[in-house]
Amino acid sequence: MKQQNTAGRLLAAAAVATAVSVVAGCTPAPADNAEEGEIVWAIGGPRSQPGGAHLSIAELWNEENPDTPVRVEALPEAADGAREQQALVLQAGGSEFDVLGLDVIWTGEYVENDWIVSLEDVRADLEGVTLPGPMESSSWGGELWAAPLNTNAGILYYRTDLVDEAPRTWTELCAAAESIAAEEGMDGFIGQGARYEGFVVNWLELFWSAGGDLYNSDQSEVVFDVDLATEVTEFIAESVDDGCFAPGYNTAMEEESRIAFQSGDAAFMRNWPGPYALIADDSESPANGVTGVAPLPSFTGEPGVSAIGGFNNAVSAFSERQDIAKDFVVWAATSVEVQTILAEDAVLPVHVPLYDEFADDPVMQQLGEILQDAKPRPAAPQWAEISLEMQRTLFEAANGQMSARDAAEQMRTFLEGTLNG
Ligand code: GLC
Repeated sequence: MKQQNTAGRLLAAAAVATAVSVVAGCTPAPADNAEEGEIVWAIGGPRSQPGGAHLSIAELWNEENPDTPVRVEALPEAADGAREQQALVLQAGGSEFDVLGLDVIWTGEYVENDWIVSLEDVRADLEGVTLPGPMESSSWGGELWAAPLNTNAGILYYRTDLVDEAPRTWTELCAAAESIAAEEGMDGFIGQGARYEGFVVNWLELFWSAGGDLYNSDQSEVVFDVDLATEVTEFIAESVDDGCFAPGYNTAMEEESRIAFQSGDAAFMRNWPGPYALIADDSESPANGVTGVAPLPSFTGEPGVSAIGGFNNAVSAFSERQDIAKDFVVWAATSVEVQTILAEDAVLPVHVPLYDEFADDPVMQQLGEILQDAKPRPAAPQWAEISLEMQRTLFEAANGQMSARDAAEQMRTFLEGTLNG
């Protein structure tokens, strides 16, 4: 509902702006509700909500740049919803947004649609101080199109008061979950099982950790193994049925998972590092002081494979303030203050020198190690469609609405179609 309302407001604002310019018979006025000189940073996720790190970053910029302030336009928390709202404005050539917070998987699509401008001219400001992985996810066709803001990797949270060490396999995790359920009356594992990009990420991490993949390394061939995909999907369905996964798994996004773990309802959680700081600050939480983080479990006993997440800031091709927007995105990537605000929120910074500052912080060190082995989702301009197809097939199958084998077969056919198209 929230998404529709905001999208509706955007459409209404665009319609009003068009009507005004038609009536006045002149070139469209700055079409948005931006104050003179203000730039609008459209970005989703929990950190754009009141009290979130994106607002603190904007405040810092505004103190230093009172004549060209930035305003955060908070897009929905779920990645798909945020992309939809940006796409609505950009498809219409709207200038409402100057800076676009881009999930790492959107770069190709935005470039192919001519929605963002090249940042090649500021590459030198970023190279060397910004982590190479996020620079890679900001690039397309050998050119730089965004300035990294933060990076991310999926991790396992566990309760050090309930288990001696982090489970390394799903079998170990489910065995522990069963005895914790019997002794403490708590749910087992919570993750992002709702129907959105988060499900896709969680499913892929399981699939990768079982040895599967979507494409070969140069993305010229589909290597999607139908048997393995069937097993992984059945594993999710069974784990929800037998109580290893919490009953709320298939409706939970990042925030619902965090709340379940932080309030002591779930013993294990897959999430991004961000919740760590919130749990550490919440002295009322049963998980406070007894939360450990570890690599995700696998099916083999090897460390599991985490997906790389994160956000990069791009400049809208329709922005009327592209120069200021460019200054802002470079500043956010390279300012020690900005990157520290993120790190203090347990959001992984992209600023290389800052990692030295956290050399004595065991959690940051561990997260850094997990990040080194983390894996990107395939860079594909049609990622949004691939993701939706995974939601249509594999999510349905994980929830008993379709056979897991049919879902896997349909997914393989779809992936093959992405190469032929
Ligand atoms: C986080 C990640 C992003 C991912 C999303 C999925 O926001 O940073 O890359 O797509 O979660 O829910």
